[in-house]
Amino acid sequence: MEGVRKGEDAKIYIDGKEYLLPTVIGTEDELGIDIRRLRSESGAITLDPGYANTGSCISSITYINGEEGILRYRGYPIEQLAEKAEFLEVCYLLIYGKLPDQREYNYFVDKVTRHSLLHEDMKNFFAGFPNTAHPMCVLAAMVASLAAYYPDEKNDLELMDLNIVRLLAKVPTIAAFAYKKSIGQPFVYPRNDLSYTQNFLHMMFAVPAEEYKVPPLFNKALNILLILHADHEQNCSTSTVRMVGSSMANLFASIAAGICALWGPLHGGANQRVIEMLQMIYEDKGDVAKYVAMAKDKRNNFRLMGFGHRVYKNYDPRARILKSLADELLPELGYDDPLLEIAKHLEEVALKDEYFLERKLYPNVDFYSGIIYRAIGIPTNMFTVMFALGRLPGWIAHWRELRLDPSMRIHRPRQIYSGPSKRDYIPFTERG
Ligand code: CMC
Repeated sequence: MEGVRKGEDAKIYIDGKEYLLPTVIGTEDELGIDIRRLRSESGAITLDPGYANTGSCISSITYINGEEGILRYRGYPIEQLAEKAEFLEVCYLLIYGKLPDQREYNYFVDKVTRHSLLHEDMKNFFAGFPNTAHPMCVLAAMVASLAAYYPDEKNDLELMDLNIVRLLAKVPTIAAFAYKKSIGQPFVYPRNDLSYTQNFLHMMFAVPAEEYKVPPLFNKALNILLILHADHEQNCSTSTVRMVGSSMANLFASIAAGICALWGPLHGGANQRVIEMLQMIYEDKGDVAKYVAMAKDKRNNFRLMGFGHRVYKNYDPRARILKSLADELLPELGYDDPLLEIAKHLEEVALKDEYFLERKLYPNVDFYSGIIYRAIGIPTNMFTVMFALGRLPGWIAHWRELRLDPSMRIHRPRQIYSGPSKRDYIPFTERG
């Protein structure tokens, strides 16, 4: 496979017998032991609950070095993309592997712009949800429902690209409609004269009664936020998308599964929990030390939300960008958010504490993102939907990479069984 070279064979001994296992070395010298033949040759499997040491695929989309705090999409550093690129440019880069030239970009933007309307019948689905429904639940249901309107791609490349465009185009509309539904306002239809991010903000905040102009600072902040969330290699939701896609499920079904995986508070749901935690600390007279102590207390299941990461054992580069964006944006907007001060104080106290230093727990992407979302008027229960909107190109890129891989097999891990051995059925009358 391109970009991957062979290393020296690894040796493993099981019951005194030696087995040779090939190794693979990635572009950035990451080393993997290829265990594909291990079970057929030795009868043994590898055991890795939580998959912390398991490579599920070879991928050319995103590189992370968690020890050094590096994140690159298709080789481009996240810092450069966040500063210079447009979100749809990054979508193209992630999905198709290269930065588009001007003609490719115009064509792509035009297609995405023109597919943003939802089938009118889909509006009926929104009506069926209670106003109190979490927008993540509406988003997951609506994205899965798109499969009812558009044909399964199977192996048709053109149809695959069309469904990719449809999904990128319609998810902002679904997300904004879910919000409008939750606050009882009329849906605002997409506008083709606006950019992707402007259009989303317009659908969120415009009302028929008056003109709404998207503030350029809101637009700039949203563009950066979406780029920072666009991909993060084999995280829980992306692995879910690949898992579901490996059964040959269609794009919409696979992405809907990813949205459900993202919802959990240990993953994308953390951004909502961070603001709720900061608010709680604020209302508790800003007593940061008390919450740091609670997070360290093993008898208490409280954790500092927005802290820690499976891969980053250093400052998450996305959190660094968002912290300085918050510092720059809030004063420009004249928005003095006491939660930003609480967040910075919390970070300062935690990063001096032995518990957090020893475990290499640093702020992650979710720590400062909510403060910026608040500043641009996005309500707390929409934060995880915003994460999903940003992560969409990453999910799509991984789904496409998987489906175009001729060696793809259905994903099907094994297990070590720990239940009872064979025993005979006992009738009710004889059960103790
Ligand atoms: N607060 C307090 N202690 C923590 C935290 C935290 N936020 N995160 C990890 N720890 C401790 C944990 O208790 C464990 O301690 P010990 O070794 O004494 O048992 C140690 O650090 C390792 O934690 P872990 O749970 O084994 O690590 P993990 O890799 O399985 O989990 C994590 C990673 C992100 C789920 C976890 O750090 C966490 O729950 N963080 C809070 C939720 C959060 O912010 N999630 C967003 C992640 S970034 C965005 C995304 O990708 O979704």
